[in-house]
Amino acid sequence: MSEAAIIDGKAFAANLRGKVARQVAALKADHGLTPGLAVVLVGADPASEIYVRNKHTQTTEAGMNSFEFKRPADITQDALLGLVRELNADSRVHGILVQLPLPKPLVEQPVTQAIDPDKDVDGLHVINAGRLASGLPGLFPCTPSGCMMLIEDQLGADLSGKRAIVLGRSNLVGKPIAQMLLRANATVTMAHSRTDDLPAECRRADIVVAAVGKPDMVRGGWIKHGAVVIDVGINRIPKDGGGTRVVGDVCFAEAKDRAAAITPVPGGVGPMTIATLLHNTVIAACRQAGVEEPKV
Ligand code: GUN
Repeated sequence: MSEAAIIDGKAFAANLRGKVARQVAALKADHGLTPGLAVVLVGADPASEIYVRNKHTQTTEAGMNSFEFKRPADITQDALLGLVRELNADSRVHGILVQLPLPKPLVEQPVTQAIDPDKDVDGLHVINAGRLASGLPGLFPCTPSGCMMLIEDQLGADLSGKRAIVLGRSNLVGKPIAQMLLRANATVTMAHSRTDDLPAECRRADIVVAAVGKPDMVRGGWIKHGAVVIDVGINRIPKDGGGTRVVGDVCFAEAKDRAAAITPVPGGVGPMTIATLLHNTVIAACRQAGVEEPKV
């Protein structure tokens, strides 16, 4: 039995960051434009702190301005909304990202919807969700955009005749990637916890995108021979002998014997998220400055 090609998201993301850095250098040289990304972190969640630190490092490495706003967990909803409004009005800031989840009792929806849709590099504003669903230009969520780049790299940009299944229906991943696959002409099934006979649904799919947050849920026998498998899951589980390790939503050891190509966890989809965030920030900056946007 032939084993799947392992999709190297780490290398792909490094290559994309390199392209973004060259685009930023050209924008500075030709237009005096330095894209700027503002990241808001509320509270002190250790995982969020790591993400935000990585975003800062990679933003500055790409030659962009990185603005960090750390606020205590007891910030009021109004004060947080006030900060978002200030960033909306700041012309040095082309992209705004409020790190999620927000600590309780803060409510996420009013905050993500207060971000100017043209600075919404997370693609979470309903205007951008609507633009995506309507086939209009907009800013679209980073993790699904990164998944699509990996899928296109395997199968080309036109997915006509391919069946895709998306497991999970979150606003951040499941719903937007289903729209992106549809835009690329795939025949898309959206599956979730209430779907009947998930293994049978999965076995029909040429493309499987798993974004459910359940360790090793998708078994090898669910995968059609020759499918492309994109595992968005990042699940921390106890390790034999103590400590923890990170696994995806797909049982990699089983699925690799059937898939044509599969993303590992870690090192698959994960590194793509910040790279596509930087790419979105360049796009947002070009649009705000009225400069032609570079192609990926
Ligand atoms: N927390 C984990 N992933 C994300 C993301 O893509 N965007 C935001 N804003 N917060 C996150």
